[in-house]
Amino acid sequence: MNDLKNESMNWLIHVNKDFFTLWKSRMESFGGKDFKSLGNNFHTFSIMETLTREKIKESLFSRYCFPIQYMWPTKLNQKGFIEKCAQGIASKFENKKFSNVVVFPLDRKDQKLASNLRGRILQVVKEKMSLATSQKLLVEWTKHPVMQPPNTQTLIVAISEKCVWAGMSSPIDSGCFFAGGRRYVGISNDNIASRAASKFVEGTEALLLNGINVNNSKKWLELGAAPGGITHEIASRNCEVWAIDKAELDKNLLKNPLVHFFQIDARDFNQKLNFDSIFCDLNGPADISAEICSDKTSLLKKEGIIIHTLKVHSVTDFEDDFQKVKSIFKQKGCELLFTKHLYNNKQEVTLFLKKI
Ligand SMILES: C[S@@+](CC[C@H](N)C(=O)[O-])C[C@H]1O[C@@H](n2cnc3c(N)ncnc32)[C@H](O)[C@@H]1O
Repeated sequence: MNDLKNESMNWLIHVNKDFFTLWKSRMESFGGKDFKSLGNNFHTFSIMETLTREKIKESLFSRYCFPIQYMWPTKLNQKGFIEKCAQGIASKFENKKFSNVVVFPLDRKDQKLASNLRGRILQVVKEKMSLATSQKLLVEWTKHPVMQPPNTQTLIVAISEKCVWAGMSSPIDSGCFFAGGRRYVGISNDNIASRAASKFVEGTEALLLNGINVNNSKKWLELGAAPGGITHEIASRNCEVWAIDKAELDKNLLKNPLVHFFQIDARDFNQKLNFDSIFCDLNGPADISAEICSDKTSLLKKEGIIIHTLKVHSVTDFEDDFQKVKSIFKQKGCELLFTKHLYNNKQEVTLFLKKI
């Protein structure tokens, strides 16, 4: 196992290939260099400066990252890999304090091996970790990663066929409650767009990671609701939702008393209501969707949260569109909290804003 003692720090990061060039040029402006692809949307790079949580957020497209403190060339299939790796990592991190251990594979086919390795590391460090985390809590965090306090100091291990990387971070600094940044969401209703509902689930988790709980939002305005994946998800949380779309909503949802559907152009929605939160998933040009959504924030309570998907029609136009959209919301008194390319976002990024 090699200690990385060079002056610049190496990082492992997950960035979707479609947005890699945008992310790279943002990261280069902070001094990032030596970018190397590891496959499956994972990369390593180095940076001299301390990479703060704010800079990682400003790079927009980082789904998950951690500083590499140790790396170890290896062959996963080698006899005794798990034992050797677990012992090696436990000894290298002997003097570090951590309350959780996560292990993820770069390639999903190695998931089982990653789970077994995590199990063995946890056994090896059991005594030390029992001071920080009870067995019951560990089981809870394993089953429900969103239960982890965002600042939980975590020993993170990533494995590939050729290498093992390890470092210390926390869910908030790495950018996700889920190791590696892959968030699979099981959705109960397959008839309506499930990816949209996944965006809602992952979006509310991203807010939680940043200390904002929208579970208290009982009245939602949803712009661009058809066919109804998100509407279904909001109503299944026992919240009321005013769902607006030019297109038709799933017929079963229309029977739900928590769902108030208006089949109109969102611009024409003029009910005098007061909402706790807004979710906007309108398609079309980014500035037009932002104009429509920001206009509706007049119906939002003070400090209400807006989750807005910015559709990326062309990577070349992204920086311009992003600046335009930010300024449209700012003019309407909305503060951008952060932006994230969620695992369930494809050609879009999600903006999280607050009405001030
Ligand atoms: C990505 S889809 C929404 C998916 C939906 N959120 C779900 O969970 O199933 C985008 C929707 O925006 C709607 N849309 C676009 N512009 C609109 C407008 N000006 N007024 C109303 N609906 C609009 C489209 O009809 C389309 O159904």
